[in-house]
Amino acid sequence: MAGFLTLDTATLSSLHRKLLLEYEGFKKKNLKLDMSRGKPCPEQLDLTNGLLSSLDGNYLAEDGTDCRNYGGVEGLPEARRLFAACLGVQPEEIMVNGNSSLALMHDLIARAMLFGVDDQERPWGERPVKFLCPSPGYDRHFALCELFKIEMIPIPMQQDGPAMEEVEELVAHDESIKGIWCVPMYSNPTGVTYSDEVVTRLATMKTKASDFRIFWDNAYALHHLTDQPDRLLNILQACKEANNPDRVYIFSSTSKISYAGAGVAMLASSVKNIRRLAKLMSFQTIGPNKLNQLCHVRFFKDVANIQAHMKKHAALLRPKFDLVLEILQTELGNKNIATWTKPNGGYFISLNTLEGCAKKVVRLAAEAGVIFTKAGATFPYGYDPRDQNIRIAPTYPPLHELKLAMELFTICLQLASIEKILNDRTTQSVTLSTIKAKIV
Ligand SMILES: Cc1ncc(COP(=O)(O)O)c(C=O)c1O
Repeated sequence: MAGFLTLDTATLSSLHRKLLLEYEGFKKKNLKLDMSRGKPCPEQLDLTNGLLSSLDGNYLAEDGTDCRNYGGVEGLPEARRLFAACLGVQPEEIMVNGNSSLALMHDLIARAMLFGVDDQERPWGERPVKFLCPSPGYDRHFALCELFKIEMIPIPMQQDGPAMEEVEELVAHDESIKGIWCVPMYSNPTGVTYSDEVVTRLATMKTKASDFRIFWDNAYALHHLTDQPDRLLNILQACKEANNPDRVYIFSSTSKISYAGAGVAMLASSVKNIRRLAKLMSFQTIGPNKLNQLCHVRFFKDVANIQAHMKKHAALLRPKFDLVLEILQTELGNKNIATWTKPNGGYFISLNTLEGCAKKVVRLAAEAGVIFTKAGATFPYGYDPRDQNIRIAPTYPPLHELKLAMELFTICLQLASIEKILNDRTTQSVTLSTIKAKIV
């Protein structure tokens, strides 16, 4: 089919009437579907059945620690070893702590504000702080910045990571820029994995702030959807080689490996940073939930087992991603009203509408009972300057619900696009006639 922009007004209007009837039909179904958050589905959670009974009455860690008792802020040695191997760092370069990487990020920023990121540096909170925010990005990162009154500077997200010329230029001249958010592998929402060049440039770039930090949220490090996974350069290693060993904080968790909200979270960095953070953390807690760490180590045993486990996740998720991509292609392909990503891993598909349509699409879908992530949420301050990005989260709903949700979505998108095109035409012809009238 010809692109919508090439269709004449009468054809578009009649298509609009037809789509509107289909839309009204969907409304009558009284749907109540939520496509807004990237949550694992129940079948994924079932893959980890057995984890909670894996201790079988033996609560002792390998060094004899009784995991039922206090202590061990940095995490059990065997848990540090296991997750260090997952992230390609040394066991002493990682702490395993708590159930949520987002909580680790939140607390790290709070500590940076109050105590700085290094004993030689001043607390960030003494002066205005700015963060670079590759966008579209993860809404909860941006929400943290808003919470801590950190000014956000959007940076365009490209095929290989953030636009590095802009990043380098900004950090080189502005001392108040203290950090950058990065989801370097199967990025939320674009699915992009940073290229080696981008990783190296982030590690080596000159920063005006000596206490600048990279917040490397590697939430999807093991979450491949295909047998040809993306590859990510080891940033901790790159930072060491660039003589910036303390520059990066790497976050991850098993939220989408074992249980979301009941897994284990981890933070990797230089040994110096980890020791300092553990010291500060020891004021907050006398130790993490080591029983859960022990369950994870006993259940998963080693990296190869985790990788095999993640293939089972992929087997459940691949059909869902395929279905979404197939519906998008069938319903929208060649209409030139949207572009979308085809990720090799992670939890999202990122779609761009024609400019100025995203909010309307999400509103139309919500009015027919299907909730998508709020348009704009993938940008700092919830403001997408082109109003075109929509994050699609295919993981949670069962296939039949996903099918309904996506069919409705494509109808909403076509309706909003046609309305935009027709509206633009009217505005153009009004403008033209005004110009003509003025000339006459
Ligand atoms: C990029 C990213 N980071 C962090 C999280 C949350 O991780 P956690 O459950 O470990 O707090 C998510 C969840 O969707 C995510 O997409």
